[in-house]
Amino acid sequence: MIWPLTSKPKFEPFREEQATSRAPAQAGAKQNRLDLSLRLRRNRKAEWSRRLVRENSLSAADLIWPIFLSEGENLRESIPSLPGVERLSIDEAVRAAAEAAELGIPAIALFPNTDPALRDEKASEALNPNNLVCRALHAIKKELPQLGLITDVALDPYTSHGHDGLLRGEEILNDETVFVLIEQALNQARAGADIIAPSDMMDGRVGAIRAALDAHGFEAVQILSYAAKYASAFYGPFRDAIGTNAILIGDKRTYQMDPANSDEALREVAQDIDEGADIVMVKPGLPYLDVIFQVKDHFGLPTFAYQVSGEYAMIMAAANNGWIDGDKAMLESLLAFKRAGADAVLTYFAPRAAKKLKELA
Ligand code: PBG
Repeated sequence: MIWPLTSKPKFEPFREEQATSRAPAQAGAKQNRLDLSLRLRRNRKAEWSRRLVRENSLSAADLIWPIFLSEGENLRESIPSLPGVERLSIDEAVRAAAEAAELGIPAIALFPNTDPALRDEKASEALNPNNLVCRALHAIKKELPQLGLITDVALDPYTSHGHDGLLRGEEILNDETVFVLIEQALNQARAGADIIAPSDMMDGRVGAIRAALDAHGFEAVQILSYAAKYASAFYGPFRDAIGTNAILIGDKRTYQMDPANSDEALREVAQDIDEGADIVMVKPGLPYLDVIFQVKDHFGLPTFAYQVSGEYAMIMAAANNGWIDGDKAMLESLLAFKRAGADAVLTYFAPRAAKKLKELA
């Protein structure tokens, strides 16, 4: 909304004689007051007033915590490019899930670091009902039935070449990949996933997965589509976390979007909605706030944002160097998503932000 200016503010400084007549108490004092009828600073003058006029807010209910899984027991492995984030064995992931529930975080998203020996050209391990993600789903669901569990549908944690789809020569095969994604989604739904989140960017996967879920009695399982996912430089630390950085051949620009485009993002979103997406996502987050805004504005659908690993790493690196206040930058960046129109944010800051919000409440 654009506010019309009904009266043009006058920017003429008072002259000495005016100041004297209007402010007798200060008669004679040297005045340099502007004749402004509009002073936006008035509403900012005190904390109580700032709270009253605040337009957006952030709460734990807006946060989704992405969690990295690893084989083992009592295991927490640090990830150098993601300070403060660890890969967790399933028992530790159950503890993290309990912490999420305790903090009021509605859902977590699971990402596996698959044993390199189990990765192959066909991503076979994605379909194993006993894979790391499926076992984690069972274990967490059993302890915390009220917590939302989100699983990523894409083949990159399982392929020997680190791509989200099947590769023939240098080509990522679309339709062949979708048939595997359908099976991967069903495998996750059977293990207890509440939300299936395809992040692969193949054409037609949302509709295909929706049809398969419905055909197998999973009509209550939601689809969170990574609808506008860009071929971004900000995924580096994530690829360290799931062990694909070292093995990835080439890049993902034939399936993930060109960072130069935003009309195309709306087409991607429109198509996914058409195919049955319940929630759409824009990824990365902060560099794409304009896309989040446009998607929410156009479609009015639940719209999530992913504050990706590189965004988290940048804030942490600067904070750890003492260059910025980490907590403040964290909350400011998360609030920015709400201002842009996001309904929820996937962020590695989720537990820290929820704790901080509690402290500030
Ligand atoms: C892969 C996937 C990626 C992320 C989530 N799912 C990386 C990629 O596309 O290479 C990135 C998340 C992050 O950087 O935090 N399907």
